[in-house]
Amino acid sequence: MKLLYLTGFLGIALATTSCAQTTLKEAFKNDFLIGAALSPAQFCESNQVEAALVKAQFNSISPENILKWEVIHPEPGKYDFALADRYVEFGVTNQLAIIGHNLIWHSQTPDWVFRDAKSNYVDRDTLLARMREHIFAVAGRYQGKIIGWDVVNEALADNGTLRDSPWRKIIGDDYIAKAFEFAHEADPQAELYYNDFSLENEPKQAGAVALIKNLQAAGVKICGVGLQGHYSLEKPTLQKIDKAIATFAKLGLKVMVTELDVNVLPSPGHALSAEVSERYRMSAGLNPYTNGLPADVQQQLAQRYADLFSVFLKHRGSISRVTFWGVTDGNSWLNDWPVQGRTNYPLLFNRESKPKPAFDAVLKTALGKTAIKLSAGESALAR
Ligand code: G3I
Repeated sequence: MKLLYLTGFLGIALATTSCAQTTLKEAFKNDFLIGAALSPAQFCESNQVEAALVKAQFNSISPENILKWEVIHPEPGKYDFALADRYVEFGVTNQLAIIGHNLIWHSQTPDWVFRDAKSNYVDRDTLLARMREHIFAVAGRYQGKIIGWDVVNEALADNGTLRDSPWRKIIGDDYIAKAFEFAHEADPQAELYYNDFSLENEPKQAGAVALIKNLQAAGVKICGVGLQGHYSLEKPTLQKIDKAIATFAKLGLKVMVTELDVNVLPSPGHALSAEVSERYRMSAGLNPYTNGLPADVQQQLAQRYADLFSVFLKHRGSISRVTFWGVTDGNSWLNDWPVQGRTNYPLLFNRESKPKPAFDAVLKTALGKTAIKLSAGESALAR
């Protein structure tokens, strides 16, 4: 016990002296990749400060929006690769592990994909052909550059059953297997992932496990699972996150935290999720921190991040990447979801691109990892 205390103390002491010199990617270089989701201003470098921050701190990138179907393939036969090419070029130039997000999703897919000239749903074969063409055009174009794809995004409902999306309605449950097969054909070397939110919740987790086991039993290539990690200050509990990581790792998959952020604002009454279609009106009390985050909440956020990374480090043998969903607080989607126009503080860098106390807390957790490894995250889990 004394040894643990001493090691922990040394870790913290060391961290206090070396934080200023180190970066996220350096601190976790023996553990997992550290990524961020980028917007065009960052990868086209029109925002030079944020672009420099990305290059300094991260060794992996994800595209927040520009590889989504509605952006890259807005009309039949019309692809717009301009931004995607810039994104990939930024990653190649800066030697970053480039992630593709995403190939098949129920959201942000134009309605024409599912319809014929008379606006009726197309048949299974037609939709499979459209899916295949899209996956070959997009994944095929970036072969050897994009190292891993979120092939299917958010296919599960909260109760663990498959969402009744147009993909499922028209093709059937095997649309997921087909998407993975097409992605594998289009880029045989790429890693292929299933990505979703709220996988810490029992019913959805069970549904994801069943889905993945079915794919594995059918011989479909699937390399990893993305736990999106859209969290709040309290939820989900560390125990739930710990169990989710262990459960998916047991399936022989790489586990990734793919869209990490911590929402500090009051909930308008909805369950913690990342359901993009959920929207609430602004009302009194929902936007309390327009003039800055109070010190006690800043501290709570820092502690939450330290605890989260203690759990991630405990599983560093199974976790291959932790990606933040955004770079600075100012460009986080959480300023506009589920309520438009709020001032949120979910990331490690503030609106001036400066590191926050949460950044230091994450680095301290990394630098104290000998202690964390010895105590296996138990101190954090006990909180
Ligand atoms: O680019 C247009 C702009 O031209 C237009 O003027 C403006 C008007 O509303 O909209 C802009 O598009 C917005 C886009 O973000 C870029 O800012 C869309 O309305 C908005 O819906 C879109 O939201 C994105 C959302 O996915 C839906 O695609 C968020 O930025 C993005 O963070 C979010 O990311 C998702 C992941 O892909 C999957 N997991 C959940 C995660 C959070 O919802």
